[in-house]
Amino acid sequence: MELFDVYSLFDVVPVKARGCRVWDEEGREYLDLYGGHAVISIGHSHPDYIKAVSDQLSRIGFYSNSVINPLQSELAHRLGEISGYGDYSLFLDNSGAESNENAAKLASFHTGKDRIIAFRRSFHGRTSGAVAMTDNPSIVSPFNSHHKVSFCDLEDAAAVEEILKGGDVAGVIIEGIQGCGGIHVPSAGFFQELERLCRRYGAVLIADEVQSGYGRSGKFFAHQWAGVHPGIITLGKGIANGIPCGGILISPEFQARKGMLGTTFGGNYIACAGAIAVLDIIEREGLMANALAVGDYIKEALPKSGRIKEVRGKGLMLGIEFNENVAPLRKALLYDKHIFTGVAGQNMIRLLAPLCLSKAEADRFLTAFKEVLA
Ligand SMILES: Cc1ncc(COP(=O)(O)O)c(C=O)c1O
Repeated sequence: MELFDVYSLFDVVPVKARGCRVWDEEGREYLDLYGGHAVISIGHSHPDYIKAVSDQLSRIGFYSNSVINPLQSELAHRLGEISGYGDYSLFLDNSGAESNENAAKLASFHTGKDRIIAFRRSFHGRTSGAVAMTDNPSIVSPFNSHHKVSFCDLEDAAAVEEILKGGDVAGVIIEGIQGCGGIHVPSAGFFQELERLCRRYGAVLIADEVQSGYGRSGKFFAHQWAGVHPGIITLGKGIANGIPCGGILISPEFQARKGMLGTTFGGNYIACAGAIAVLDIIEREGLMANALAVGDYIKEALPKSGRIKEVRGKGLMLGIEFNENVAPLRKALLYDKHIFTGVAGQNMIRLLAPLCLSKAEADRFLTAFKEVLA
């Protein structure tokens, strides 16, 4: 059997990783400024994380959500403390898309309405509702296209209000910082206006923090820069540093009902042990402050070049937008300089490094970047 061929692959076979470094099968070392697409929050193969996960696996790896799993409550408690959302509750699932799917479903249960407002250039995942809320028709199949979703431009609160006036909107979903769509940071004023409008028209504000959350922006959630409190916050990617895990934080105004949400694997022992270790390490090693400091440092030190149109983002979620297609630059960084980076669209290099990136590692990138630009 062959693999279903849907991914464009780089010709690299990673076999080992530590911190912000990855080694291929020939022993070549790479600097990782991509973090496996924003998944590696605490760095690769952190010894405390490995110990927590392997100790847990040697005790019990899986049972089901029909028995008490104290690790879920411990994770909820720790997450409430570090995020400042101690009065919210937690539902655990397996991925970012599933979290957004659950958020839309819960908003719809709660309000009795069936439309979602999403934003142009959004990405919310690949499952049915999540991809329908994603502004990319090329990945929406006819089957996914029946959801009631309306798209507005970021910063266009008047357009959002017009749709809210229709009275059928369950939720407004917005990324803390738009990632795949090109690192667009919504203004604090726009977030605040959305919060006000959602309250006024009885819709739920849903913050998708799958990519921008978990300390990446320098605050635990990117929307916290705006001082708003969404009704639902969705999680994924960095939550368990690579063990599939997702979740939603749910404001106290929502009423749970048995069977309302569910999953087989969500909240399993291994994911919870990994996720608790991630929070321990983020806190103990000051990784949120590091993400902000090193992100600011990179922004400041990036070369001024006529080829660069704009640099956007916060903390270690940065986009360097060029006036040209960046594919050759990204290839040169990977194959000549041995540095992994991401992209967003054709003209943007996207940096999603592990939150433990050091200044020395940032300097290695900056030197290489200047060389490939020259
Ligand atoms: C903002 C955002 N939401 C949701 C998702 C989907 O997450 P997953 O691939 O874990 O389903 C992604 C993935 O890139 C994302 O960036």
